[in-house]
Amino acid sequence: MSKNICLNLKKKRCLKYLFFIRSKMIYLDFAASTPLLPSVKKELFRAFEEEYANPSSAHKLGRSSFEKIEKVRAFIAESIGAYKSEIIFTSGATESNNLAIKGYVLANQKKGKHIITSSIEHKCILSICNFLEKEHGYEITYIAPQKNGVMDAQDVIAAMREDTVLVSIMHVNNELGSIQPIASIGQACFERDIRFHVDAAQSYKKLPIDVDELNIDFLSISAHKIYGPKGIGALYIRDLRETRIKPVIHGAGQEYGLRGGTLATPLILGFGAAVEDQTIEDSFEEVSKINSLLRAKVIEIGGIINSPEAHHIPHILNIRLPNFDASNFVTNSDFLCSQGSACSSMNIEMSYVLREIGLSFEESQSSIRVSFNKFDKNILNFLQ
Ligand SMILES: Cc1ncc(COP(=O)(O)O)c(C=O)c1O
Repeated sequence: MSKNICLNLKKKRCLKYLFFIRSKMIYLDFAASTPLLPSVKKELFRAFEEEYANPSSAHKLGRSSFEKIEKVRAFIAESIGAYKSEIIFTSGATESNNLAIKGYVLANQKKGKHIITSSIEHKCILSICNFLEKEHGYEITYIAPQKNGVMDAQDVIAAMREDTVLVSIMHVNNELGSIQPIASIGQACFERDIRFHVDAAQSYKKLPIDVDELNIDFLSISAHKIYGPKGIGALYIRDLRETRIKPVIHGAGQEYGLRGGTLATPLILGFGAAVEDQTIEDSFEEVSKINSLLRAKVIEIGGIINSPEAHHIPHILNIRLPNFDASNFVTNSDFLCSQGSACSSMNIEMSYVLREIGLSFEESQSSIRVSFNKFDKNILNFLQ
């Protein structure tokens, strides 16, 4: 047999093997990241090929890319009831959270040095607050959720003070799927002239968001949670031009001087295609069906649902199973899901979210987060 035929055969076997492995797996980690929608993939390929000019360039090709970027900016703004001039592109929700919180409070130190957040925010918010506390002398009040993982708006309101400069509360918790009372907190912030930041990484395109109705001043979103590319996100800033913000990334004046660096045209256009697609908004009914079937199965085998019954998006379900080694399951099973805790072979750290809703270390070690969408029929077929 010639060398080439041998190589081809090897390649084919290898592909077959890979396909077999892939086809056996059931992806249940859509809250961590999502695959690209076909429309996104198409736009990404096109843009990587054609939109190579610098969108800040004055020539025709640069201007053409710039115009397309501005269309995406307008489309994102429209989707949350904002103005196009209030949207900044970032690398994702982590950077948006950094720019909103550090950018606002450090530029407005005279207004006060007290921040309110929750104890179940995404790790990046807790890290930002820790940084502000340690390096800049801010006082942070961490509000704990109720036992079901939902915040009591009154607890947040009761913590507001004369020197509170910012409140930052996530819309949907990434481990439990619990929906937080954003409207009541936003109203209270508005009445007290306190700025309100919302991390909407898990809620954008799943729940309706109108920044005026909800009195939101800063809103963080991320493309890879909505079937767009990784490495791109956006921050909404109310009255951007009149708001004092310290840039986190200094650069050559891009994004109103708030976020330096050449705009990532293909990623932004791919993000735009994801925002434009209606399939996520339309997925609630089917996702709810998967959620109900899985809840019933878990209870049938003696398991417990850590996620709340109400005030909850169906896309995320945190479950606890009897005699279950979650860490081993997450690492080795073909059901691809997450454990709330950060693990290393030397050190198993408990999920702070599960701890905050009252679970013991042992209970957290038998808990996993599964998250789904309507595109993956494998889990539906498995449950039915
Ligand atoms: C609530 C929440 N905030 C922020 C992030 C970070 O998003 P990104 O990966 O876009 O930086 C995530 C991602 O898991 C998240 O779930």
